[in-house]
Amino acid sequence: MANPSPRRSLPLLSVPRPGGRDPMTCRFRCGNSCDHEIANTSGNPYFGDILTAAVSRRGALRAGVLGGVVVSFGATALAAPAAAQAAGPGRKGAGPRPGHARGGLSFTPVRPNTEDALVVPEGYEAAVVVRWGDPVLPDAPAFDFDNQTAEAQAKQFGYNCDFVTFFPLGRDRALLWVNHEYTDENLMFRGYTDGESATEEQIRIALAAHGGSIVELRRVGRSGRWELVTTGRRRYNRRITAETEMRVSGPAAGSDLLKTAADPTGRRVRGMLNNCAGGVTPWGTVLTCEENWNQYFVGGDGVPAANKSALARYGVSTTQAVPSGNRRFDRVDERFDLSKHPNEINRFGWVVEIDPFDPDSVPVKHTALGRFAHEGATTTLARDGRVVVYMGDDGRFEYIYKFVSTGRFRRGDDRHNRRLLEEGTLYVARFTGDSPKGEIDGSGRPPRDGAFDGHGEWIPLVSGDRSFVPGMSAAEVLVFTRLAADKVGATKMDRPEDVERSPVTGAVYAALTNNSRRTKEQADEANPRANNRHGHVLEIVEQDNDAGATRFRWSVPLVCGDPDDASTYFGGYDKSKVSPISCPDNLAFDRDGNLWIATDGNALGSNDGLFAMPVSGPERGRVRQFLTVPRGAETCGPLITEDGLSVFVAVQHPGEVSGATPDRPASRWPDGDQPRPSVAVVWHRRGKRIGS
Ligand code: FEO
Ligand code: CA
Ligand code: CA
Repeated sequence: MANPSPRRSLPLLSVPRPGGRDPMTCRFRCGNSCDHEIANTSGNPYFGDILTAAVSRRGALRAGVLGGVVVSFGATALAAPAAAQAAGPGRKGAGPRPGHARGGLSFTPVRPNTEDALVVPEGYEAAVVVRWGDPVLPDAPAFDFDNQTAEAQAKQFGYNCDFVTFFPLGRDRALLWVNHEYTDENLMFRGYTDGESATEEQIRIALAAHGGSIVELRRVGRSGRWELVTTGRRRYNRRITAETEMRVSGPAAGSDLLKTAADPTGRRVRGMLNNCAGGVTPWGTVLTCEENWNQYFVGGDGVPAANKSALARYGVSTTQAVPSGNRRFDRVDERFDLSKHPNEINRFGWVVEIDPFDPDSVPVKHTALGRFAHEGATTTLARDGRVVVYMGDDGRFEYIYKFVSTGRFRRGDDRHNRRLLEEGTLYVARFTGDSPKGEIDGSGRPPRDGAFDGHGEWIPLVSGDRSFVPGMSAAEVLVFTRLAADKVGATKMDRPEDVERSPVTGAVYAALTNNSRRTKEQADEANPRANNRHGHVLEIVEQDNDAGATRFRWSVPLVCGDPDDASTYFGGYDKSKVSPISCPDNLAFDRDGNLWIATDGNALGSNDGLFAMPVSGPERGRVRQFLTVPRGAETCGPLITEDGLSVFVAVQHPGEVSGATPDRPASRWPDGDQPRPSVAVVWHRRGKRIGS
């Protein structure tokens, strides 16, 4: 279904929650964190300075495959983009304009809508690739909604797919990695009310439905369509769950803070939780990021007094034994009870590295990258070959971070490269505006110099075993990273989500999804809108366009919302010709350097969607909606394949609307029956490149 105009009047639906998120999503996704006090009560200024820099999550990996192993990393990421170097950062007025994308976009935008369908532009087609419950391991049983078991779920595709990445195995085969962020038991099980009354089998199913999946795909004909391989050996297919054994690496491995009764070494952890977005490394592994892991624990009231302030800083109740809506994993495994095992929670909140080409490999939790509500982890290379990882901490008034490895990437030296994330420097960003504070009035209207912009710096927190934070050891900085960042004057942001680097210009983009709790007084040039329900996008240009730099310039090319709303800004582009957009979350680049933005929690009354926006040239800021997802869902992924023929999106939590149950579903996507979170692929009917 397509529409001739990108614009239409939006229905003024009542918005139930901050952003546009449904209360059911709030409960299951993040344990109603918006109802909690702001976890960041530090005295950091809301305006001032900020931070850092570097690589591209997925778009940069041009996977050449030799003997099943990715051996090459995209030239776009390895070299500082020439156009960007030539232009340099920070031209006044329009913000940094480091270079020009190569190709234009040309498709008829999809209108805002509330269809229970995946809606794509005219000329495009969409198909489901893999859905919740589909067999992943060859011996997995077929999905049976009314007869689920934990044993089956541990072999089937998990729930609520989020980050998607793609490793070609030649031209017509590929591996797909997908995160399973969280479970919505209310939609998974008939008659479910809460964790208290859940059956133990339901709790075990939920544990098995978290984690991630690796599945093999094949191309359909010569098109951009891909389908699941459902027969044969499928030797790479794998499920990772909340029970999979993992190893801990880096300076905090073995620290007392990570030791538990089950693991006196502090080096072996069971499982990963709430994996939201992620990234890929130059050596062809997946990075997958634990985000709202704090919600899975009970017993915060019973921890030693000394532990309470750190727990509270991570949004864990220290006054309630069982926070409302808790899934009660502790009923089948007491490690989730903090009053009995206060350190177990310290073993979650990390970036996890997984080798998709070795189904027997042990996933690694990298402590050098810090512990917070990790949204994603986008890697790139500094000019001198050090590995740089950009990371957002998705909470209101949380920070943006960057890791720079000590060692340098060596092409083809897998053994060496696999240790690069074990030691380096972790920085947090401080953003300083260049306009007088009085001109940033919270309205979203640009100041007199015409731009929300300024300079910033990356403040070092820890480097290897050396802490730069007074009163905190290196292990403490890594395990309690938020507390460390509070002490050095990092800038409080409007929920930092995905960070991506343009493969064409080298500029770095951060999605700040929303923050309805920011007041007028708290507005600053990098977070310029009070009651920021629709979010914005930040552009960072590192000094000399070097991802390893410690200084940068920044600007705000997009302040989201209905373009008729005076508080929005679309890079200076004619607002009568753009699509409304709300709550930017996951980002991706196509190879021409167009930014693709997936949304979560559209606060304008439409379903969530995927949008494309040029970031340079005369069409900078021209936002166009490429697709919308079904009712109740958010758009995750996204991933545009290197050949440009396919875009993958994860359709997360279809039908997650308050009041919906299996007997009264709010969505019947994709099969006309119960809603099933699924990854879908979109391609052009005549084989054109996506968006072109
Ligand atoms: Fe899981 Fe920040 O989105
Ligand atoms: Ca300014
Ligand atoms: Ca996200």
